Amino acid sequence: MSDNKSNAVSKCRVCGAGIAAFMSFGRMPIANGFLRAEEIADEYFFELAPAFCESCTMFQIVEQPDPKKMFHENYAFFSSTSRHMQTHFAGFAKAVIDKHLSGRKDPFVVELGSNDGIMLRNFHALGMRHLGIEPSVNVADVARGHGINTISEFFGPQLADKVVAEYGQADVIQCANVMCHIPDLPGVAAGVTRLLKPDGVFIFEDPYLGAMIEKTSYDQIYDEHVFIFSVTNVARAFALHGLELVDAEPQTTHGGSMRYTLAPKGSRTVSANVATLLQKERGQGLDRPEIYAQFKRNCEKSRTDLMSLLEDLRRQGKRVVGYGATSKSTTVTNYCGITPQHVEFISDTTPIKQGKLSPGAHIPVKPYAEFERAFPDYALLFAWNHATEIREKEQAFIAAGGRWITFVPDVKIVS
Ligand code: TYD
Ligand code: ZN
Repeated sequence: MSDNKSNAVSKCRVCGAGIAAFMSFGRMPIANGFLRAEEIADEYFFELAPAFCESCTMFQIVEQPDPKKMFHENYAFFSSTSRHMQTHFAGFAKAVIDKHLSGRKDPFVVELGSNDGIMLRNFHALGMRHLGIEPSVNVADVARGHGINTISEFFGPQLADKVVAEYGQADVIQCANVMCHIPDLPGVAAGVTRLLKPDGVFIFEDPYLGAMIEKTSYDQIYDEHVFIFSVTNVARAFALHGLELVDAEPQTTHGGSMRYTLAPKGSRTVSANVATLLQKERGQGLDRPEIYAQFKRNCEKSRTDLMSLLEDLRRQGKRVVGYGATSKSTTVTNYCGITPQHVEFISDTTPIKQGKLSPGAHIPVKPYAEFERAFPDYALLFAWNHATEIREKEQAFIAAGGRWITFVPDVKIVS
């Protein structure tokens, strides 16, 4: 084990005010760090502990491992594995085109963290000028294979200037499930203001703090998610860089996300959604510390409930298999103390994860065929954000007497 505390912050990454963790999920490995048995001795751990900035309301983790440990040439996350996510990104692209690009002459679209090109494919198909910026080389190579123009670098003001010199300014800068990954939010905001045309828009979506608090979906908190955004904290964070929040639209993806549209201050009419959601968040208490103390108690209850269920099933000799070796599941297995005695293996369709062990908990990850070959008594639904898609296609498992264990919003057994 190698501990490294050098990336822990005592000041808010957005506004610089002092922050302190309000709870800890304990010693945590890299969420996507699926590993082989011989790599266990060198497994990297850090302390996963979230903080709420009382000054600007940003929700953030205190310590984040070096991004190079997470987004590297072997990054295990491929966006295109879910059918529903493909449909979602096609819809995202259509909304961007309809609202912001139609009628523009030779528009230029930039995506930060373009992964395997799941979203830019839609622009490429229409022959639009586009550029993907994706530091993880293996996923970027997949995008290039689909003809998506991609560079593998980390985005900031310098890269923004380089892109402007080569392609000109962007009509749209977009990203999905990426902004919350980048600790240097001020650096990205500075890059965006340089790369964006004066009448351009910056659109991003990420898991939504309001949904996480409401559902106690604490598994959204892991190394990659340095921030969890709300309408309140996004509006404040980007206002510091001259960008105004002009729209916010709830999304169902990742168990509840929000799509934010920002534009140079004063360049656009602000949608009524913004005021409505700001008011709703004030009502929920997202701008005050008390709600986070309650969230901590809810997490502890969720852990107690899940472990007493898994212990019961273990004593009864039931077979429990995990469904979906998600990044999120790393927080659940490590925080709760789930071991291969509780969960025999985790079934996952992503080839790069198969044959490996889950980070920290070291539960074997096996191909989907293993799940189908001999249905377990229970499947612990780690990929709960895809529940609709999964429960629809797993009717044979239920027909064979199998049951789902879910833990969001509550721990329960369902058919
Ligand atoms: P994802 O939803 O991206 O969650 P996270 O961001 O927490 O990693 O990951 C879903 C994982 O579940 C991915 O590894 C693929 C796997 N999966 C299956 O094995 N079967 C399925 O039917 C679905 C939808 C996903
Ligand atoms: Zn702050």
